[in-house]
Amino acid sequence: MTASSPSPHTGLTAEPSRALGGTIRVPGDKSISHRALIFGALAVGETRITGLLEGEDVLATAETMRRLGAQVRRHADGTWSVFGVGVGGLSEPAEPLDFGNSGTGARLVMGLVAGHPITATFIGDASLSRRPMGRVITPLSEMGAHFHAREGGRMPLTLTGARRTLPITYRSPVASAQVKSAILLAGLNAPGVTTVIEPVPTRDHTERMLRAFGAHIETRQGKDGLEISLTGEPELTPCPIAVPGDPSSAAFPVVAALLVPGSEIVVQGITLNPHRAGLYTTLKEMGGDIEVMNQREEGGEPVADLRVRHSRLTGIDVPPERAASMIDEYPVLAVAAAFAEGETRMMGIHELRVKESDRIAATASGLRANGIKVHESDDGMVVEGRSGMVDGGGHVVTHMDHRIAMSFLVMGLAAQKPVTVDDASMIATSFPGFTTLMRGLGASFAGQAQ
Ligand code: S3P
Repeated sequence: MTASSPSPHTGLTAEPSRALGGTIRVPGDKSISHRALIFGALAVGETRITGLLEGEDVLATAETMRRLGAQVRRHADGTWSVFGVGVGGLSEPAEPLDFGNSGTGARLVMGLVAGHPITATFIGDASLSRRPMGRVITPLSEMGAHFHAREGGRMPLTLTGARRTLPITYRSPVASAQVKSAILLAGLNAPGVTTVIEPVPTRDHTERMLRAFGAHIETRQGKDGLEISLTGEPELTPCPIAVPGDPSSAAFPVVAALLVPGSEIVVQGITLNPHRAGLYTTLKEMGGDIEVMNQREEGGEPVADLRVRHSRLTGIDVPPERAASMIDEYPVLAVAAAFAEGETRMMGIHELRVKESDRIAATASGLRANGIKVHESDDGMVVEGRSGMVDGGGHVVTHMDHRIAMSFLVMGLAAQKPVTVDDASMIATSFPGFTTLMRGLGASFAGQAQ
C-alpha cells in the first residue's frame, strides 16, 4: 500500500453533505476524565463520576488505576466509581502500564508514580513512543524519581518513584498542562510546598479538581509567570464529578456546521473554561455565527450550549498568545481557514509538532492534497482560503492522529469532492461514536471504519 492509498480496513471517506441540523451532546471532556480517575484513585473512599469519556485514552487510564491498586467500576447506568487508596497508597504494578495513544495519561501517571516508592514500566503505541518525555523526566528527577528511558527520553521507559519525594519550585520551559499536572501529582506526596511557574497559563483542570478534593492550592501572578503552589501530603476527600462535554470534540461538528451551507446545530453542555475556549473566540472573529446559550457552572467548570449556523468566514491573524487555549484545535481551524476568504495566519504553535503526530506537517499536507495553498514554518502555518470553494478529492495520511482524521472528514462534508482519510480507527481514542453522531446531523460517510 502506498502512503496515499486508504487502508482497506480503517479508511473512511466523507462525502459532500446536505445542510446539517439537530441538537447533540458530545462525549465527556478528555482532560477532566483522566483527572477524575486519577484523583479518585488518590482519595480515600468512593468517587462517583458521571459523563466520563469512554474513549480508548481514558479507558487506558482507568485500567492503569486498577493496576496501581484502586478499584474502578463502571455501573450499568454508565456512571463510574473509583475507590481510592489515599495519597501515597498506590502499589507496584505487576505488568507494564499501557497508555495506548495517550500522552496525557502517560505523563500524568508518571507524576503520580514518581511520588510513590514503586517501579513501573510505561508503554504505548508507535505514536506515543515517538513523543518527548524529557519535559516530565527533568522535573520529576529533581523530585527524586529515577528514569530509564529510550534515547531522547522516549517510551518505553521504566520509572522508580522517590523514596522521599522532594518538593520543588519549577519554571516550566514549555506551556504544558501535562507537565504542570505531573509535577503537582508528584508534589501531593512531598512534605512541603511544590510550586510550578507557568510562562503561559494552561488548562487548570488539575488545580480545580485538587481544590474540590480538599487540597490546599494557591495561584498568584509572579514576575516570571503564573505561580501554582500545592501543599503536599493532604488527605483527599472524594467528591462527585460531573464531566462536561469536551470543547475539543465539539470543535468538529461546530466547524462542520459553519462550513456546510444551510446548517444549524446546537451542541449542549460543553465546558467553556477560558483555558479551553480559544477556538470559539477565533471562529467568532472570523465571522462564525456561534451563539453561546445557557451559561452555567457544573462540577466546578463553566458550561454552556452553542447554537451554530452556516457562516461566510474571513481569514484572520490568530494571536499567538491564544495558542494554549486552543492547542488541540489548530488542525480543524486550518480546515475552517481553507473555506474562509483571505489568509489565516497561525503562529506560535511549535508544540503542535510533538502531539499525536507532527500536526503542522500533517495538516499542511492534508490541505495540499485537497487543493489548498499553505505556507509552513517551524512554528506556524498560513492557510490561503478559497472563499467556500474547496476542491477536496484528496487522500489524507493521518499518522495515527485522531484529530487529523476528524478534521479532514469535516473538510470532506463541505468540499466539492469527497475527502478520504487513510485511518479512522484512532478517532475512538477521544470521540467514540463520532460518525454516528455526525450522521445523525445529516453527514454522509463511506468506508470500512464506520
Ligand atoms: C492536556 C494538555 C495539552 C493537550 C492535551 C491534553 C491535558 O497537552 O494538548 O490534549 O489534559 O493536560 P500539553 O500539556 O502537552 O500542552
